[in-house]
Amino acid sequence: PLFVKEGIGEAAPISSMPGQSQHTLESLLKEARELASRGVAGVLLFGVPERKDAGGSESFNDDGIVQRGLRALKDELGDEFVVFADLCLCEYTDHGHCGLVDGDAIDNDTTLATYARIGESQARAGADVVAPSGMMDGQVGAIRSALDDAGFIDTAILSYAVKYASSLYGPFREAGEGAPKFGDRRSHQQGPPNAIEGLREAALDVAEGADALMVKPAIGYLDVLRAVKNRFNYPTAAYNVSGEYSMLLAAAERGWIDERAATIELLTSIKRAGADLIVTYHAKKAAEWLQ
Ligand code: PBG
Ligand code: ZN
Repeated sequence: PLFVKEGIGEAAPISSMPGQSQHTLESLLKEARELASRGVAGVLLFGVPERKDAGGSESFNDDGIVQRGLRALKDELGDEFVVFADLCLCEYTDHGHCGLVDGDAIDNDTTLATYARIGESQARAGADVVAPSGMMDGQVGAIRSALDDAGFIDTAILSYAVKYASSLYGPFREAGEGAPKFGDRRSHQQGPPNAIEGLREAALDVAEGADALMVKPAIGYLDVLRAVKNRFNYPTAAYNVSGEYSMLLAAAERGWIDERAATIELLTSIKRAGADLIVTYHAKKAAEWLQ
């Protein structure tokens, strides 16, 4: 995962995620080139816009920061390097929610039309894959038909199919500047004790045309990952989230665990549980260690 931020003159380190930064367009390309040279297959791009509003309008601006980042990455790194665009509203709305709000509630169905516009705009900017992360019901279907209608029949959808309302997203919310200003995400993200709902969520996304399914977080949810892999036998992704990363790095900084050994062991566990694709902040170092 990489973050590109509008309006900054140089990369800004994220204090809660050692080794990670909010990037300028320039430092984004530098980092992506470095990742590609180490054998990382692609990046998942998040945008942090300067201007936020209730409707998250910067998210579907063809000249928005994420669109500029996507274009630059595709131009620079070419076809072999896969560019995923995170598709959500929380970095773009002034209230920090992943959907449009109506009073205190997230309005699922009006949000879908905005997601469709974002998907189209990201595809136009060159995204190979769009990855809707907002957990609105019907998001995969809405985005798929918008992409098809606009002629982007080859743009794939990696759906965050199974996403828990986790306590491990905190550092990410600093990086993406997308923490909710009120309430939480429990009306649409899943409850940690529930294993069955994840399979229902994944089945809906398969029916709506998802090309790959993601489970998030990864390490605490390896049972769910294995169940999704076995049930659907789809390309299956796991998101090794910010809190998982930061816990490991914090312990390593204190000398309590060995960063390299622990990282490789945990990434191996995610792979063993069925992940075909791992989204992880460890990617740069892990790729080097694995070489
Ligand atoms: C929200 C989103 C989240 C992450 C990616 N997109 C979490 C959230 O705020 O609910 C988490 C990623 C991480 O913790 O690394 N659309
Ligand atoms: Zn979101």
